[in-house]
Amino acid sequence: MQKNSRWHYLETAEQVADAACQQILNAATSAISERGKFKLVLAGGSTPEKVYRLLAESNANWANWANWFIYYGDERCLPADHQDRNSLMASRVFLDKVAIPAQQIYTMPAELGPEVAADRYKLAVTKAGMFDMVLLGMGEDGHTASLFPGHQHQQDELVHAVYNSPKPPPERVSISAKALSNTRELIFLITGTNKQEAVNLWRSGEDLPVAMIKPENPIDIYIDSDAFKPENGE
Ligand code: 6PG
Repeated sequence: MQKNSRWHYLETAEQVADAACQQILNAATSAISERGKFKLVLAGGSTPEKVYRLLAESNANWANWANWFIYYGDERCLPADHQDRNSLMASRVFLDKVAIPAQQIYTMPAELGPEVAADRYKLAVTKAGMFDMVLLGMGEDGHTASLFPGHQHQQDELVHAVYNSPKPPPERVSISAKALSNTRELIFLITGTNKQEAVNLWRSGEDLPVAMIKPENPIDIYIDSDAFKPENGE
């Protein structure tokens, strides 16, 4: 099993979202009081969507939205207003409902195609430096962000152009494992029975994309009972 990880076993996907939301708000409070900013990387997918709804509902003054900076771990190469864009989902359920300044939301220009978008987004990632918190999901094949099993990328790149994604659409943009690992805190959100096999492989040390994410601090994995049932005592 991946060392340097804290597994949080929860019963339902709602509890996963709730616990992650609390950790994000706590991280924001400390980052803003210590460094004046909270730099958060968002994920696509259905589990993160629940978290974004909760963040929007927690719309309290103390959330200090004016100091939040938003990035995306990956994006699908579709028109900017396409309903399957990760950015559209995050805007609809979260970003349009809170007072984060528009110029602090770094959307990937994925409508320009993988190469151009990756090239331009490098600048945003370079300027961001170390993130405060990265959110990631995991697909049933063990992919995370748009880092898929069997895909080869230059490890030193900050942002990759992705072709032939097995999860549609085939063209995507993804922050690299190296740049996603440059974060103070990192949360994986994993729910659903279709994740069981990948979770078991990951825990047994298989070389999956999720296992390439290795920040210096321990990562937090919030997982529901559909995706994994711990043995007694775990
Ligand atoms: C995307 C992703 C992807 C996602 C996982 C898990 O663009 O879809 O960023 O990596 O997070 O596939 O998605 P679910 O939470 O929907 O299972």
